[in-house]
Amino acid sequence: MQKPGLLIILEGIDGTGKSTQAKRLGEWFEARGREVVLSREPTDGPWGRKLRESAATGRLSPEDELEYFLKDRRQHVEEVIQPALDAGKVVILDRYYFSTMAYQGARGFDPAEIRRKNEEFAPRPDLLVILDLNVDTALERIGARGDTANEFEKRESLQRCREIFLSLKDEPFARVVDSGRSLDDVAANLREIADGI
Ligand code: TYD
Repeated sequence: MQKPGLLIILEGIDGTGKSTQAKRLGEWFEARGREVVLSREPTDGPWGRKLRESAATGRLSPEDELEYFLKDRRQHVEEVIQPALDAGKVVILDRYYFSTMAYQGARGFDPAEIRRKNEEFAPRPDLLVILDLNVDTALERIGARGDTANEFEKRESLQRCREIFLSLKDEPFARVVDSGRSLDDVAANLREIADGI
């Protein structure tokens, strides 16, 4: 019998180690004989590329940005996520619609409304891991100290993002993991959690 697909999401503010942990968790599932699809959002597709370019060349309007994230995700679900789940694979994502709740929520949109729009087409995860870290440590890890005007703005908005991520902690599929520890400790914690789902 085919094993059911699993959708596992790693979320958290920048600097929490999502991509490293996604890779390590993927290797652990592969060692247990599962087929794994590792992916990330924004994707490398056309909408995701526009979003990444806009980070370098000046930001999109909040409305356009939200729309592009939704278009990017719709395509990701149709072309990558749902087919892999249907084939019984383990899909591990570095960011998903909880990032839209957090980041576009920090830009003024209502996180609950963002969630509702996404859940019209995006499957809910089997496991959402919120990698939690205080903003000072996160800024240090990404090489910023928070003492220029631009960085101050970034600090405030990351603080709001962190709060929105933590507001999800009581969802039945969510687990909060302290990512202030060593990579090995966090990876071991994630394996333990994944073993239980
Ligand atoms: P990130 O994972 O940091 O990509 P990279 O490591 O290539 O820079 O994602 C880029 C930024 O996009 C990050 O600051 C969070 C933001 N983001 C949103 O604002 N909304 C979303 O829905 C997603 C998925 C990401």
